[in-house]
Amino acid sequence: MAHPVTKIPKAFEFARLAERLRLPLELYAQATYGHHNLTTERLRLRPPVIDDQKRVLAYRLANREHLQPWEPERDASYYTLETVEAQLTQIELDMEAKSALHWLIQPQDSEEVLGMCSFTNIVRGAFQACHLGFSLAGAQQGKGYMQEALTAALAHVFEVQKLHRVMANHQPDNLASEKLLQRLGFEREGYARQYLHINGAWADHVLTSLVSPGAGTYAPHHKT
Ligand SMILES: CC(C)(COP(=O)(O)OP(=O)(O)OC[C@H]1O[C@@H](n2cnc3c(N)ncnc32)[C@H](O)[C@@H]1OP(=O)(O)O)[C@@H](O)C(=O)NCCC(=O)NCCS
Repeated sequence: MAHPVTKIPKAFEFARLAERLRLPLELYAQATYGHHNLTTERLRLRPPVIDDQKRVLAYRLANREHLQPWEPERDASYYTLETVEAQLTQIELDMEAKSALHWLIQPQDSEEVLGMCSFTNIVRGAFQACHLGFSLAGAQQGKGYMQEALTAALAHVFEVQKLHRVMANHQPDNLASEKLLQRLGFEREGYARQYLHINGAWADHVLTSLVSPGAGTYAPHHKT
């Protein structure tokens, strides 16, 4: 298991912080390091750890062509265990710093990676917002898996993490993403020309976002 050593001091930190914020420790611990493990009707979501490097690389290699039109251009090093390990290490650091949440999407009965989703650039203070990214294995599309996974992840992000706004942007011709985001309740907010460098060129993006259903009732717990 990953990093048992770091968990002991953290528990003390959580206890002190929960006391200071007058939060029940149980609630705070679950939100902060209940490991964010989620279960849905058909799936489970868990943050990746360094031990996942082989299965993450296998996912990348198997879905290289499927994901290419929607992702930054990748050089050969992207498809190596060294790069995956470095990125998984960074993910653990970002999650520990609470600047991002990442999940592997898996079947309930195996460690196969069906897809991934991430909530990055988490900003607290007056903004309480982040960016959503996601991908599903080509062979797993059309089953409602991403909708099911993101429904659970968004509930966690709004109800447990208490974020207020999730932003998701897609290329105008990414109809699968457009439909998915619409079904999840995301609303179009704008259109950004040459927004991201995707597959070797600057690509326009449709800007969408979803505001927490509890909007207006939430008072931020976190101060920056
Ligand atoms: C975007 C992406 C995740 C969408 O995958 P998806 O499987 O279409 O998404 P969903 O989980 O919402 O599934 C919806 C589809 O499953 C079907 N479906 C089957 N069973 C279902 C169920 N039980 N519940 C819901 N939908 C179901 C729906 O009819 C729908 O199919 P349709 O689009 O042909 O009508 C996937 O295409 C992908 O990974 N693309 C490449 C990466 C990418 O674009 N990332 C985002 C960059 S912005």
